[in-house]
Amino acid sequence: AAAEKGGYPWFMLKEIAEQPQAIADTLLGRLGRYGELVLDEVRLSDDDLRVVDKVFVVACGTAYHAGLIAKYAIEHWTRLPVEVEVASEFRYRDPVLDRSTLVVVISQSGETMDTLMALRHAKEQSARVLAICNANGSTIPRESDAVLYTHAGPEVAVASTKGFLTQLVACYLVGLFLAQVRGIKYEDEISSIVADLRTLPEKVATVLEQMEPVRELGRSLADADRMLFLGRHVSFPVALEGALKLKELAYIHAEGFAAGELKHGPIAVIEEGTPVIVVVPPRARELLHGKVVSNIQEVRARGARTIVIAEEGDEDVVAYADHVIRVPRTPTLLAPVVTTVPLQVLACEIADTRGLDVDQPRNLAKSVTVE
Ligand code: G6P
Repeated sequence: AAAEKGGYPWFMLKEIAEQPQAIADTLLGRLGRYGELVLDEVRLSDDDLRVVDKVFVVACGTAYHAGLIAKYAIEHWTRLPVEVEVASEFRYRDPVLDRSTLVVVISQSGETMDTLMALRHAKEQSARVLAICNANGSTIPRESDAVLYTHAGPEVAVASTKGFLTQLVACYLVGLFLAQVRGIKYEDEISSIVADLRTLPEKVATVLEQMEPVRELGRSLADADRMLFLGRHVSFPVALEGALKLKELAYIHAEGFAAGELKHGPIAVIEEGTPVIVVVPPRARELLHGKVVSNIQEVRARGARTIVIAEEGDEDVVAYADHVIRVPRTPTLLAPVVTTVPLQVLACEIADTRGLDVDQPRNLAKSVTVE
C-alpha cells in the first residue's frame, strides 16, 4: 500500500504533490504556438459558441467552488453573464435555459448523480452542455455535447485536490476559448494570459517546496474547535474551499466568508484565539488589497489568531499577521491555483495530527451516485 502511495503516508499527500504535473497535463496540447487556444476536441462548432448569450456552471462540492472561480474569469474575459449553482438546486428551480445557453458541468468523477440529473435537465431544455471531467469515458462526459478532460490522473483520496486545481485550469481554458472564438479579446491579450497559464505548474511547485512551516502551523491548530476563512473576489471561493477541506478532513467546524461581509455578522463569533485564515489579493489590486488588510486588522483587534496567505513581498500584512504563508506573485484571476495549495496542506496536517483517516473521512464518499 505504501508503494501505491508513492512513499507518502496518504493518497491525499501524493495527490497534492502531483499537482504541478497534473496542471501541466491539463494544459498539454491545448496551447498553440502563437499563444492561441487549441480545443478542437471540444465538439461544439464555432457557430454554436458564437450564439451563446449566457453561461451556467453547475457542479457539487469542491467542483462547485471551481465553478464559482470560473465565473469571475469567464465573465471578465467574455463579457457573457455567468451563473453558478450547486447541481442539487439547479434543476428544481426551473432555470431559464434555451439553445443559446451554454451549461458547463464540472465533475471529477463524472458520476455524481446530482450533476448528471442537472445535465439531463439542461439538455431537455435544449441547452448546450460542456463537461469538465477527470474520469475518461464516465457517464457525465458521455451524455454531454462536448467534454474537456482535465487529465489529472486517478484521484483516490475522497477530498479533491489535484482534481480541483485542474478543474480551475480547464475553466480558464474554456473562458479563453470562448473569448477567442467570439473575437472578444485581442489575440495578444489571450496570448499573454496563456503565457501566465504556462507558469502555473512551476508556481505550484514553489508553493509545495515551502510547506514545512504550514505543516508545523497545522499541528499547532489541531485542537481548534472552529475556524473562519475570509477572502474577496476570487479568494472568496478559495476561502469556501479551505473551510470545506477542514470540515471534510478534520471535522472542525469552519466557514468561509466574503471578507466584506465580516461586519454584517461573522465578526460576532470571533473570540480570543479564534483562528482566522485570510486569503489576501495581489497588491496590484490596490483597492481590494487595502480592504482585506483592514479586515485582518479588524479581526486581530477582536482577539483572532490571524493566519494570512499573501504574495511574496507583500509587507503590508506583516503587522497584523500571527502567521504569514507566502505564495508566488500570480495574476488575480489565476491566483486561486496557488493560494488553495496551503489550505489543502493545512487541512491534511490538522486531520493527521488528530489521528483521523485523511483519505477516507467519516460519512463521505468519493463519488456520490445517489440523489
Ligand atoms: C463528493 C466528494 C467531494 C466532491 C463532490 C463532487 O461529495 O466527497 O470531494 O467534490 O462529490 O464530486 P465530482 O466527482 O462530481 O467532482
